[in-house]
Amino acid sequence: MSKNEFYLSQFKTLSKINPPKRVMFFDTSLRDGEQTPGLTYTIDEKIEIAKKLDELGVAKIEAGFAISSEGEAESIKKIAHEGLKSIVCSLARPIKEDIDKVLWCDVPYIHLFISTSDLHIQTMMKINRDEVLKQTIQGIEYAKSHGLRVEFSPQDATRTDMDFLIQACNTAEDAGAEVLNIPDTVGVMTPRMTFEFFSELKKHIKVPLSAHAHNDLGQAVANTLAAVEGGAEQCHVCVNGLGERAGNASLEQVAVCLAAQYEIETGLNYSKLSETSDLIQRLSGIYLPPTTPIVGDNAFAHESGIHVHGILSHSGNYEILSPEFVGRKRRIVAGKHAGRHGIESMITEMGLKPNKDQLKKIAQEVKSLGDSGKSVTDTDLYAITKNIMNIVSTDRVKLKQLVVVTGNTVKPTASVVIEVDGKEYSGSGVGNGPIDSSINAIKAVVDAFADIKLEKFMMKAITGGTDAVADVTVALRSDGRFITASSVNGDTVMASVEAILKGMNQLMEKKGA
Ligand code: KIV
Ligand code: ZN
Repeated sequence: MSKNEFYLSQFKTLSKINPPKRVMFFDTSLRDGEQTPGLTYTIDEKIEIAKKLDELGVAKIEAGFAISSEGEAESIKKIAHEGLKSIVCSLARPIKEDIDKVLWCDVPYIHLFISTSDLHIQTMMKINRDEVLKQTIQGIEYAKSHGLRVEFSPQDATRTDMDFLIQACNTAEDAGAEVLNIPDTVGVMTPRMTFEFFSELKKHIKVPLSAHAHNDLGQAVANTLAAVEGGAEQCHVCVNGLGERAGNASLEQVAVCLAAQYEIETGLNYSKLSETSDLIQRLSGIYLPPTTPIVGDNAFAHESGIHVHGILSHSGNYEILSPEFVGRKRRIVAGKHAGRHGIESMITEMGLKPNKDQLKKIAQEVKSLGDSGKSVTDTDLYAITKNIMNIVSTDRVKLKQLVVVTGNTVKPTASVVIEVDGKEYSGSGVGNGPIDSSINAIKAVVDAFADIKLEKFMMKAITGGTDAVADVTVALRSDGRFITASSVNGDTVMASVEAILKGMNQLMEKKGA
């Protein structure tokens, strides 16, 4: 995608700065990202993530911190043997024990770090600056003499005395570090400070600089871009901005800004951004708010009448880049702000053609449903439209019976009897809980008829107390179609099952599967 295909500001300041033509992506989702409080991946999950990052085209994957546990070292070794195009690396302190563990992992690249701020040196490491320099030289030389390529990070760089930081960086490059990564370990910088910081370092350091920004004050992405403006040729990022405390700079946001706002080559396959984010959301269990830029559910969703009309006339009116560029699809959403154009385009997409009068009535019903405080899902719109157009259709999939067994001594198990096109089928499933096992049991039956994936599942308690009424909304995908459906029931399992069946019926009706 060239700059002409992004609908951005005409206002340009880039002539005053001289950013690099190409920036490398160093992804640390499996190391700093896994340091997100409460998060751990299994070895198999780490391998799946590493393969996805490789498909995405990141230059380097920090697969973990080898010395931190046996399982960690094992997963790094397995990833190193996957034959990926990305360079696989491990984090280590500049001490023999750490470096030997990295050597055991068979990776070609090591990321060595030691703190350089007086605060860390005195209160945490309880050594002095000379000792920091000595360990830096010894660690880099030991790693290099064993065939490793070395990247070096002076931890807490942005709170380090500038003269000492330059001295530490020069020491590291003289010892053989090929990249100097500058961590804003606790996210204290502003973009302007970062630009000046990197511009200054660049005057004194010959090897490429890398940025590693934390998001404690919500500036990690902006600071990473400012570091690039100041000359950084690599950036450390995490998918979905996961990481210690408030996280690291988000891979997808930095990547799209570099392409769209700076026209900088990154080597990334942008159309894989969305599926990479989805994978990390699923495996980490950390789901992004819908308003998250680039990959949030609403990033390319439009409801209000004026916006939808504008989008349908020319997408550039309210989208600065096409959703397909990052592997997403545009979503027009029905609701109280919707206009007739939007509702009509959604209904057409569903394969129905109401006349003018019917369309007016449908729009009125959608708005009054929205006014009553309900979010209008695709299946709601479908049901309203069919009702107003007097279309009678029967559900292809009907639940005949559902039995769930759960408790403290049994694995939650569900068995279902489902009628598909008038014929009864039974199936069973196990899961993490009664809802998961019920959904798995239904999928086991319906999988034979249609390839339908459950992409999102959200449950809200409408009332308080143990007798709360559950409002479940699901998003299902089939053959590139994405639809939402919801159900409200006093029984959480039934609300979930009903929402899923509604969505499945709509998808199967359109497909004629
Ligand atoms: O934030 C940080 O300082 C780090 C180092 C290990 C590079 O993650
Ligand atoms: Zn970090």
